[in-house]
Amino acid sequence: MDRTKSPKLALFALSAILVLCSAKAQSACDTHRFADNIAFGDCSALPALGSFLHWTYNEPNGTVSIAFRHPGTSSSSWIAWGINPTGTTMLGTQALVAFINSSGQFEAYTSPITVYQTQLERGSLSFTVTNVSASLVNGEATIFATLELPTNLIAANQVWQMGPMANGLPQIHARTGDNTRSMGRIDFRSGQSSGGGGGAGDRQKKRNTHGILNAVSWGVLLPMGAMMARYMKVFTDPTWFYLHIAFQVSGYVIGVAGWATGIKLGNDSPGTSYSTHRSLGIAIFTFATLQVFALLLRPKPDNKYRVYWNVYHHAVGYTTIILSIINIFKGFDILDPEDKWRWAYIGILIFLGSCVVILEPLTWFIVIRRKSRGSNTVAAPTTNKYSNGVNGTTTSGAHHQDA
Ligand SMILES: *[C@@H]1O[C@H](CO)[C@@H](O)[C@H](O)[C@H]1NC(C)=O
Ligand SMILES: *[C@@H]1O[C@H](CO)[C@@H](O)[C@H](O)[C@H]1NC(C)=O
Ligand SMILES: *[C@@H]1O[C@H](CO)[C@@H](O)[C@H](O)[C@H]1NC(C)=O
Ligand SMILES: *[C@@H]1O[C@H](CO)[C@@H](O)[C@H](O)[C@H]1NC(C)=O
Repeated sequence: MDRTKSPKLALFALSAILVLCSAKAQSACDTHRFADNIAFGDCSALPALGSFLHWTYNEPNGTVSIAFRHPGTSSSSWIAWGINPTGTTMLGTQALVAFINSSGQFEAYTSPITVYQTQLERGSLSFTVTNVSASLVNGEATIFATLELPTNLIAANQVWQMGPMANGLPQIHARTGDNTRSMGRIDFRSGQSSGGGGGAGDRQKKRNTHGILNAVSWGVLLPMGAMMARYMKVFTDPTWFYLHIAFQVSGYVIGVAGWATGIKLGNDSPGTSYSTHRSLGIAIFTFATLQVFALLLRPKPDNKYRVYWNVYHHAVGYTTIILSIINIFKGFDILDPEDKWRWAYIGILIFLGSCVVILEPLTWFIVIRRKSRGSNTVAAPTTNKYSNGVNGTTTSGAHHQDA
């Protein structure tokens, strides 16, 4: 068994999952076929709320035919897409809205958004819209329309949204996760579409960077480093020690970078405070920093205080890892990325957990067997004296048949 394969395998699995997921979104855009052989020249998989915008720009007369599509729409929700000539967010949006009306038909209409408390009332937009229609087939909702856009709106801000219905009226949409980032630019001429208008996009990038750095470091590298220390000792002394140091140091360095982006994000947005996430983050950073300094104060293996140091090192180490995993899930709740990210991380945890379930009894078995053979070179995992490569190297050759 070669445990150094686990990190490589995990990273490989993670990247494979991510590549597959992003490829799937784009192909769902390109390969979609509309009923009645309607076809559009361009398509963009919108970066939030699992939606798509298909369009054809008719340059000679300046019209754009669009289809805003949202698979997975329940019969008790509304969907909307629009162009905002005056801002990047909701207010000012010239919207197309659709839901099942009181005669039980999925109907689309235009609605200019002028107040936050809007009930998406009918009204005409600042530009002419023709051929508005909608379809809801097998949970896939689509709004069709032809927009006669003034030239200054051929590249514009787009906003899309969805929310629940109650008593035949559209209700306020969620104000977390995807529902807060369903906006961006659209250029009907060049075919480019993007999420996040201006500053919003930058901020979203920072939030994503923060999430990835922290999940990889605190959530993957540090637990793996702890596993190196616990399970590789019986096989490869003193290699485990260097692997442990390598994992924890790289995890710490990346983790501090991720932590700093989080603190910056918090300071940049005084309006939104995620106090538990922030406090946990600060506690985790403090514990991890203590671990690094504790290394410098580590007594020699034969020092009588070494056993206390070991207890301390384990207690702080495991606490840091547990708090980190909790905080990563808190982060998932705040960032609320597409489910695949949460599942990818849960998959990694399950993988690491299975390694623990297999290696823990194996380690005990080996330790007890060696003890009963009178070989004292490796102590039981919970009571170990941390040979740390200082001692043990002379006898480790005898155990390499296990490695
Ligand atoms: C604009 O041009 C397209 C394609 O040439 C045509 O299908 C559409 O009917 C025209 N619309 C108007 C309002 O003239
Ligand atoms: C519901 O929508 C259908 C299709 O657009 C329309 O014909 C019907 O008049 C609408 N019903 C009401 C009550 O608005
Ligand atoms: C809009 O609808 C009218 C009438 O149904 C049709 O003649 C016209 O071609 C449509 N225009 C577009 C751009 O689809
Ligand atoms: C390692 O420890 C054993 C037993 O405590 C001792 O006999 C041996 O000399 C030590 N080896 C080294 C290199 O310190």
